[in-house]
Amino acid sequence: MVRATFDAEGLTASPGDVRTDSVSLAVTTRSGEFHQLNSAIGLSLMEVIRDSGVDELLALCGGVLSCATCHVLVDPEHLGKLDPISDDEDDLLSGLAAREPGSRLSCQIRLQSGLNGLAVTLPAEEW
Ligand code: FES
Repeated sequence: MVRATFDAEGLTASPGDVRTDSVSLAVTTRSGEFHQLNSAIGLSLMEVIRDSGVDELLALCGGVLSCATCHVLVDPEHLGKLDPISDDEDDLLSGLAAREPGSRLSCQIRLQSGLNGLAVTLPAEEW
């Protein structure tokens, strides 16, 4: 397991630190590696995963909703807590062979306190 803490400036706290203005995240890679991350509220899930060093998440467009390489599978327990999917996000996801009911683009998930404990898995590689 890998632990890291992030805010808008990047890695800022010692592993294991938990702040009241942060959320805890669980990310499982394709290879089954588990990452426990803590992030400041307001960042996108894509930014936090990318900046943690998980290189399986390409995020090629940098979060402008044009690549779908930030695809994640959200644990069913947390799907209902996310903001509704936009038509543009839905269109991009429609082109993915690995799309599942829990599919979302992590650049469109803005971390907020209600998402504490959010768990996602990186889907099968498409590129
Ligand atoms: S990073 Fe390109 S769509 Fe999310």
